[in-house]
Amino acid sequence: MDNHATVERYERVWLAFGMVMILVFIGLTAYIVISHGNTIPRAGGVVDVSKVRSEGEFANPRVVETAEGYTVYAQAFTYGYLPAEIRVKQGKPVTFLITSPDVQHGFYLEGTNINPQIVPGYVTKVVHTFDKPATHRIVCNEYCGIGHAAMFGKVVVEK
Ligand code: CUA
Repeated sequence: MDNHATVERYERVWLAFGMVMILVFIGLTAYIVISHGNTIPRAGGVVDVSKVRSEGEFANPRVVETAEGYTVYAQAFTYGYLPAEIRVKQGKPVTFLITSPDVQHGFYLEGTNINPQIVPGYVTKVVHTFDKPATHRIVCNEYCGIGHAAMFGKVVVEK
């Protein structure tokens, strides 16, 4: 019995399997980006955690309508989101700028593939265009304390 040939055959099968899985992974990633839009979180700058609530854009959480669409200045805090309700119209790009005045939180937008971490000291930027009216719950996906499971917000997309 030729053990060497058997081992080589297994190796070839595993190499082929690995390469196929890489192609599947690239294909799935491309499919998600094409079907859902590119919602990969980007760096949006840094902030002084101790001043998030008192100074700068994030001290006044709000939705700003711009010529291109909307800019949302949002806070994720223990335990909720500001603005508590974000209202935008469908078909216009929404730039979410999100930071935290305390600990790390999540910003998962139900029904979308938006799911960034919100890290104190940093601004997370996510751009998305909603294509139909809907109400999306914002859910915290990072354990942040006793009220974590009750930490919700809301994005209302209007026609
Ligand atoms: Cu905020 Cu969990």
